Amino acid sequence: MLSIVEQNRQQLSKNTEISRKSRFGQYLTPERVASFMAGLFPNGKGHCFLLDAGAGIGSLSASFMERWRSGDLNFESVEVDAFEIDQALHPYLLNTFERFDHNGKFATHIYRDDFITASVETLTNGHISNSKWYTHAILNPPYKKINSNSAHRLALRRVGIETVNLYSAFVALAVALSKKGGQIVAIIPRSFCNGPYYRPFREFIFNRTAIQNLHLFESRKKAFKDDQVLQENIIIRLEVGGKQGPVTVSTSTDDTFSDLSTHEYPFERIVSLDDQERFIHVPTSPEKNTIESSQAIHYSLNDLGINVSTGPVVDFRLKAHLRDMPGPGNVPLLYPIHFSNKTTAWPIKGMKKPNAIERNADTEKWLYPSGFYCVVRRFSSKEEKHRIVASVAEPRAFGDVPLLGFENHLNLFHENKRGLPERLARGLAVFLNTTAVDEHFRRFNGHTQVNATDLKLMKYPSRESLIQLGEWAMQHKEINQAEIDAKLENLAR
Ligand SMILES: C[S@@+](CC[C@H](N)C(=O)[O-])C[C@H]1O[C@@H](n2cnc3c(N)ncnc32)[C@H](O)[C@@H]1O
Repeated sequence: MLSIVEQNRQQLSKNTEISRKSRFGQYLTPERVASFMAGLFPNGKGHCFLLDAGAGIGSLSASFMERWRSGDLNFESVEVDAFEIDQALHPYLLNTFERFDHNGKFATHIYRDDFITASVETLTNGHISNSKWYTHAILNPPYKKINSNSAHRLALRRVGIETVNLYSAFVALAVALSKKGGQIVAIIPRSFCNGPYYRPFREFIFNRTAIQNLHLFESRKKAFKDDQVLQENIIIRLEVGGKQGPVTVSTSTDDTFSDLSTHEYPFERIVSLDDQERFIHVPTSPEKNTIESSQAIHYSLNDLGINVSTGPVVDFRLKAHLRDMPGPGNVPLLYPIHFSNKTTAWPIKGMKKPNAIERNADTEKWLYPSGFYCVVRRFSSKEEKHRIVASVAEPRAFGDVPLLGFENHLNLFHENKRGLPERLARGLAVFLNTTAVDEHFRRFNGHTQVNATDLKLMKYPSRESLIQLGEWAMQHKEINQAEIDAKLENLAR
């Protein structure tokens, strides 16, 4: 039978308007996920001081308490600090806690303060007594962008936390408010694992904690299905002040955990030693993938003398200069749609977007000389099997034009802002379209966006090998996925 907390959660998630859910980031944790999270804490002793920040109706604390009450965890007493900004949830929260009255061995404090403001206050006023540091934290924080000049951003900066989303702010504050040895279990979007914006947050975590567990739900929709959350979520356990050792990585398709699979990995498999961006990879099987294990695929773009950039033409900023169709004085403006089916089709009549951009003093600096470029879409569509979809922009398709405009939804590979030799451009596209590259990419990128930084951090075959791949592609009119993959396997050996 469902517990009262779970019944309340199901009711609320059905009855809360979407606007309220999104205003407060109110996606409550299903019981099975909450129990799994509570199960990740190692046994302790003495007094446990648990933080539940953004507590909702207390589902996470309840799972923790259930585990303690069943005789596990070994604490003598438990005290919970629950922060919940939405007062409408307080009666439920109170109700959840009342069920765990434990002969004076259990105490709770419910705060309706904004967790960020209150924590920054605590951390800066210097009055935090030893008994006030948390020994444990269990979190499903709200997800919402923090704007650059917002009160939250400025408050966080006062305690040395530089971050772009409420969820990473909550985790960083929980770390800052914990004792050495403190255990933090959180369910958060996977977006912090890569990308430049989360780099300060990753550094913060690496400098102050050891990552002990990572759990990945392989289906995007399944962890919060009642709330239709499409984020890819990850559960992480951190030990504050811990020494980083191997990391236990588990995966399951969904929140039934019926196909739970668990492996231990050396930390170097999670964060590469030579990766300056410090991306977090989540390996889904112990075998190294082709890209990781191949001696032949270890060149950086820098080694190859190639650059990758985001298409510099931001169409809404240059609106006055855009033209539906080519004409005198303008040059092609290229969008992902011009490269569907891996061939270049330009111009496209009746397209909603413009096909061309005026060449003038305002636009010239955003344009590239005509030539061969390997292009990769920044956003893949749902129908596409691969996240990385690469094509070649070939000058023949555009007639006799001096310059090309690449729109912001494309990434492009170039050599110092000029085109690449044709064979190299084609070889790069073949390599990037392999299944091995796509699989590798998914280990560190949980969303559908492909950024230039992601492409910059990947390892590539040598320039010669890429040119050979390009030659091979040019000799065959049509090549299918199996042939591309077999070619890479050969090269990787
Ligand atoms: C994603 S929900 C998770 C709730 C609960 N932890 C759970 O797992 O079911 C996040 C909660 O944080 C609350 N919240 C949002 N912003 C907050 C803030 N600045 N301070 C405290 N709570 C906040 C929301 O109202 C919401 O209930």
